[in-house]
Amino acid sequence: MTKRGTIIAVAGKGGTGKTVIASLLLKFLTENGRGRVLAIDADPATCLPSTLGVTVKKTIGDVREEIASPSQVFFSEDMPTDMLIEYKIEEIMVNTPLFSILAMGHSEGPGCYCLINDMLRHFIDKLASRFSTILIDCEAGLEHLSRRTTRDVDTLLVVSDPTKRGIDTASTIKNLAKKLQINVRRIYLVVNKVTEDEDVRTALPELVKKSGLELVGIVPEDANIRAFDLVGKPIIELPEDSKAVVAVEEIFEKVCRG
Ligand SMILES: Nc1ncnc2c1ncn2[C@@H]1O[C@H](COP(=O)(O)OP(=O)(O)O)[C@@H](O)[C@H]1O
Ligand SMILES: [Mg+2]
Repeated sequence: MTKRGTIIAVAGKGGTGKTVIASLLLKFLTENGRGRVLAIDADPATCLPSTLGVTVKKTIGDVREEIASPSQVFFSEDMPTDMLIEYKIEEIMVNTPLFSILAMGHSEGPGCYCLINDMLRHFIDKLASRFSTILIDCEAGLEHLSRRTTRDVDTLLVVSDPTKRGIDTASTIKNLAKKLQINVRRIYLVVNKVTEDEDVRTALPELVKKSGLELVGIVPEDANIRAFDLVGKPIIELPEDSKAVVAVEEIFEKVCRG
């Protein structure tokens, strides 16, 4: 078996801060000389590129449509579909000096894409050997993990905000990973957007217990993130002393060095 990079996936209910956590993890992965990182935005809403300060023009969803479209047959008569997929993915991957990024984009329309999805997954597995870390910003349902990206995850970080619904989704994700037969080596809970409010602090231990997951870190609600959001500044450029940046560095230390 070829040696592949470490796969870290970030999942959780929408709006809990998966993309923010993934962006800050990427910041530490790239700053610590740990080799090249492949960031995969597996959320159809595709926010990760902008929080990382890059633009991705085409997604894997677009590639899938192009390959499935009848006109493509004409152009690619001489190229087997798996080679065409590899060629097109290389073409849409955005490379910066420190990391590369791929966006999965929208899921497929009607029709059968199983074969193309299988080839995609195969190629992404192959790609994983070229990077030291593959960081996947998932959508809530883990669909991409099971069908389109990879079935092997070294660390699954499940993000929740300090709400009952967020924590309920976190437990569902834990069970879903099992049901979808994703091989998860380690799974942790991250509670994000934690305020100083007395009632939040009091309720937190019980919420964490309810999740049935091991807590790896608490990330505070950060006014700098709100200020960056307001003007669309990349999260990766947050100041080092930002509360959320400090908290994610601790998570990085536990998850990536442990
Ligand atoms: N620790 C935090 N403090 C303040 N705002 C945050 C924090 N984490 C996330 N946010 C904001 O909450 C919103 C949802 O975060 P996002 O990472 O896009 O969630 P998800 O990817 O889970 O849908 C964004 O506007 C984001 O900037
Ligand atoms: Mg997101």
